[in-house]
Amino acid sequence: MSEQMRTRILATISIVALAASCGGDRNASMPPVSPSPPPSLPDPANAPRLKDVMAAHFSVGGAIEPSQLGVPADVALLQKHFSSITAENVMKPARIGTAPGIYNFAPADQLIQFAQANFIQVRGHTLLWHQSAPAWFFAGDPADPGYRTLVRQRLEAYITEVVAHFRGAVYAWDVVNEVASDTAGQTYRESSPWQVALGPDYIEYAFRAARAADPDVLLFINDYNTELPAKRARLLAIVQDLISKGVPIDGVGHQLHVNVNTSATAVDEALTAVESLGLINHVTELDVSLYVDPGSCFENGTGCQADYGTNVPPSILSAQASLYRQLFSVFRSHASLRSVSTWGISDGHTWLSNFPVNRTNQPLLFDSARLPKSAFWAVVDASIAVP
Ligand code: G3I
Repeated sequence: MSEQMRTRILATISIVALAASCGGDRNASMPPVSPSPPPSLPDPANAPRLKDVMAAHFSVGGAIEPSQLGVPADVALLQKHFSSITAENVMKPARIGTAPGIYNFAPADQLIQFAQANFIQVRGHTLLWHQSAPAWFFAGDPADPGYRTLVRQRLEAYITEVVAHFRGAVYAWDVVNEVASDTAGQTYRESSPWQVALGPDYIEYAFRAARAADPDVLLFINDYNTELPAKRARLLAIVQDLISKGVPIDGVGHQLHVNVNTSATAVDEALTAVESLGLINHVTELDVSLYVDPGSCFENGTGCQADYGTNVPPSILSAQASLYRQLFSVFRSHASLRSVSTWGISDGHTWLSNFPVNRTNQPLLFDSARLPKSAFWAVVDASIAVP
């Protein structure tokens, strides 16, 4: 790595560190800065529009918060490179469904207005998630003979109202999120409050209610670790069950929260497996973490790789760029893949700053100054050697 490039990365990281030391929210948007472009990469002014480079294959999306619409650098990045957005949080049940029959649509509507003014598509995320399941859905006595019906009606009423509100504005919904089990020998996420209240039928109820509220919107089941064969088998067993019952499902969302050691071949296999069921694919939450952690890090925060802080090894950023290149090559080879979204739009705002532990991470295609990284150039220009 050249000295100039190293200086630029250090400058970028120190801005992140400064915001954190000032008590700033590390998951919040960073102010734009204008470091010099590294000589090893093309001038950022010559960066092609990512959405145009990929247009023949799939839309290019990013997850955002409404607050980012007040950050000029984020707006410019969105307008130049992205043809789709996803609400990082404000379309989740805990945000919209604050109380029975009360809907907080305003923050999500802000995203919709921005998208429509800029000819950007909107993916809906998500109608049902165990981590965003307000208690009012489950109020009552489970021993009561009418309890199941009551909970089912609440779910169906919520989905009906929300899908109807966004009809014509949201073109695809993650109807259910993370319903497959991570445990060998279990198919469904047994600990989900939906599973506890209704058994696995809640998934079918959710899809049928969504379809009834909007006959045209695309309906997805969304999950993580689909690149791992065992998890994928559990998810696809659920999908096959839904298909066999005639449940309206259009596709599978692959979150793809991966890391620099992930195999692009494994991702290829995941896309192929969905195709073979006759469904379409979306990549919904792509990011490539700099860290490779053991299971214990995710389970109880122990054994996590140490924070690189201001010393991210150049070899790690190279590995990230190489993997991004391989992944987009795989993506372009699947006609069934219609949308690829990253979880965030730049390293200035990423959930991985706080998960699984507080740590510097740079998992996206644009740095915290919103400038294209090596990973971006690796994706858009096959002739550029990964530095
Ligand atoms: O907005 C409040 C703020 O007012 C409050 O002071 C602060 C205190 O902790 O919390 C803020 O809300 C946080 C919110 O992110 C916005 O930053 C929540 O605590 C925090 O739980 C929430 O985390 C989100 C997480 O889902 C849980 O909903 C992440 O931003 C979001 O990136 C993440 O996204 C999920 C996908 O939906 C599903 N797949 C996995 C992915 C990553 O976990």
